[in-house]
Amino acid sequence: MLNTLDELEKKAMLELPGATSEDALNELRTMYLGRKGVLTQMLRQISTVTAEERPLFGKRSNEIKESLSHAIYEALERLKSSRKDDVLLKETIDVTLPGRTVGRGHLHPVTRVSQEICRIFARMGFNVVEGPEVETDYYNFEALNIPKDHPARDMQDTFYVEENIVLRTHTSPVQIRTMEKMKPPVRILSPGRVYRPDSDVSHTPMFHQIEGLMVDRGVTFGDLKGTLTYFLKQIFGADIFLRFRPSFFPFTEPSAEVDIQCVMCGGKGCRVCGQSGWLEILGSGMVDPAVFENVGYDPEEVTGFAFGLGVERIAMLKYGISDIRLFFENDWRFLEQF
Ligand code: FA5
Ligand code: MG
Repeated sequence: MLNTLDELEKKAMLELPGATSEDALNELRTMYLGRKGVLTQMLRQISTVTAEERPLFGKRSNEIKESLSHAIYEALERLKSSRKDDVLLKETIDVTLPGRTVGRGHLHPVTRVSQEICRIFARMGFNVVEGPEVETDYYNFEALNIPKDHPARDMQDTFYVEENIVLRTHTSPVQIRTMEKMKPPVRILSPGRVYRPDSDVSHTPMFHQIEGLMVDRGVTFGDLKGTLTYFLKQIFGADIFLRFRPSFFPFTEPSAEVDIQCVMCGGKGCRVCGQSGWLEILGSGMVDPAVFENVGYDPEEVTGFAFGLGVERIAMLKYGISDIRLFFENDWRFLEQF
């Protein structure tokens, strides 16, 4: 009987190297050590073993059981770790390869120019304030002395949300909102989106304006001219050709528009400047006394100037862009040049 045990062990150990898969090893374990396995069967026959041999038989079968299950366990572990090695070998990464760069975004040219303008005026003591893009008829027109029959109020020139609610056509309503809230002296700047049903090489239905307002005792047209000239030389350089052209706005008197010599044609006249050689970039003037009365300021006591400039127009001139609509098409080939 003891001989049979030894032979059983030898046989099992010989079969072990041939079991090269997890399945084969598990099968081997069931075959020898399972409930119906060979070793278990043999142990059941212990009653047929002589009394002297019995303790040795019990000891040997336990030894074999232990060494066999240990050997199978080890073989299984080896299998698992070699599989891990295979995976690691197959899935190596070449750490010397250069990394894939992620394209870095940047500010939109209109945002850049807008920030630059705000910085220049901030140095002159102007504070940035904001106002709503959906505006009432009162703030957009009425309080700015724009009469009911003014052509700017026409459906063709204004986007109406409701009868008395519009998408603001300019940033000038922020003048009113500011003066209603604070007493003079006032020195504010208000950037933001404005809307008009317009579209051609120098007009888009949505564009950006920056409003400026300065009110104090003794502010003159000379202050307006000096401030705007200083600003324009800061942004375009000292050699820029500019002109103040008499104009009209219901909320300023006198009024002037400022044109910059067209950079596209050097003033000769082209499609961008409508053959005039000049491109209008802002409207300005001395605040009309009627506006002061609407906000409760005394026009006998204070005077002021205001201006509203077109941010895209300035960006066009600064970067030599011949069609304003390029700013809003979001074509990457255009935007990545800035
Ligand atoms: C105004 O909007 C006045 N509120 C400006 C003002 C403010 C005058 C304070 C006096 C005191 P105007 O409609 O001219 O004015 O527009 C101002 C600027 O916005 C223009 O000079 C131009 O640079 C720009 N602009 C006007 N319409 C468009 C458009 N559709 N697309 C792009 N820019 C435009
Ligand atoms: Mg104008």
